[in-house]
Amino acid sequence: MNVGDLLSAEPEPMRVEQIARVALDGRSDDACPNYFSALREALADEPPPFGTKAYSDIYRNVASDGRWLAVSLITNAEREGDGATRLWSLAACSRDKDERLQLKVHAVDESRHALFYLALLDFAFPGMTDPQFRLELRKLSPHYSMHMEPFPVPGSPYAKTPSIDDFVQMNIAEIRTTIHHLMQRPALSVHATAENKGRITPILDSLLRDELRHVAYTAKLIERLSQRAARPDFHHLVRKRLHDFNQITSEELGNLAFDCSVACCEKRLNCRAKALSVTAFIDMPT
Ligand SMILES: [Fe+2]
Ligand SMILES: [Fe+2]
Repeated sequence: MNVGDLLSAEPEPMRVEQIARVALDGRSDDACPNYFSALREALADEPPPFGTKAYSDIYRNVASDGRWLAVSLITNAEREGDGATRLWSLAACSRDKDERLQLKVHAVDESRHALFYLALLDFAFPGMTDPQFRLELRKLSPHYSMHMEPFPVPGSPYAKTPSIDDFVQMNIAEIRTTIHHLMQRPALSVHATAENKGRITPILDSLLRDELRHVAYTAKLIERLSQRAARPDFHHLVRKRLHDFNQITSEELGNLAFDCSVACCEKRLNCRAKALSVTAFIDMPT
């Protein structure tokens, strides 16, 4: 299976493992045997709701509302920016040179992704944001670059040495982001004009390439760190973190939220999406 297959495949429960395999260029057990063994076991014990056809069907339904999709793009930008600052702190505190570099590259990617989501907003929904608000949205990205030196972001709980637990959580999160991306592609093409579809595709391709790279490097770091852990402890960790993600996803599904919801916006007062239009959610079935 390759990236092209991933783009055309129908969602099914095994999709989570397929994404990890594609990310690692089809190499699986021989490349990361501990990682795949723990992931397979966790998927069997804790089947994730994301990656199922039902999940994809619900997404397609809510994303047919252009306002919902526009707000979810802003929320994606916000989450990518937040993720970048967490990674920046982790990179600053890592004691391993190779790990530090990979975390820095990841932070720069996510910082750029925040701007990519805003570009998708511009191309899919031109004129939806007023110029002043659009300028403010640029602040969702911390604008990190490889020329900058990572520093622990003041007050961040991620200003600590990264652990295998951090990489397991990142890996599952990146797989889930990739699944969201795969659902977002066709949804955006429903709303974009023919002219703007041509502008959207290269951004989406770049996002997909980066997210798969994030899945791959975290899997490799997990594999390396797992060699120092007891097998039952490592398997328990992966299962527990997948369980946590499943629970979060189910709660979001309860709100029919995916990437944003009225509840989410009200909880997170600084959510810029709220300023655009929370009414996008009000008509959603519950
Ligand atoms: Fe990203
Ligand atoms: Fe990512």
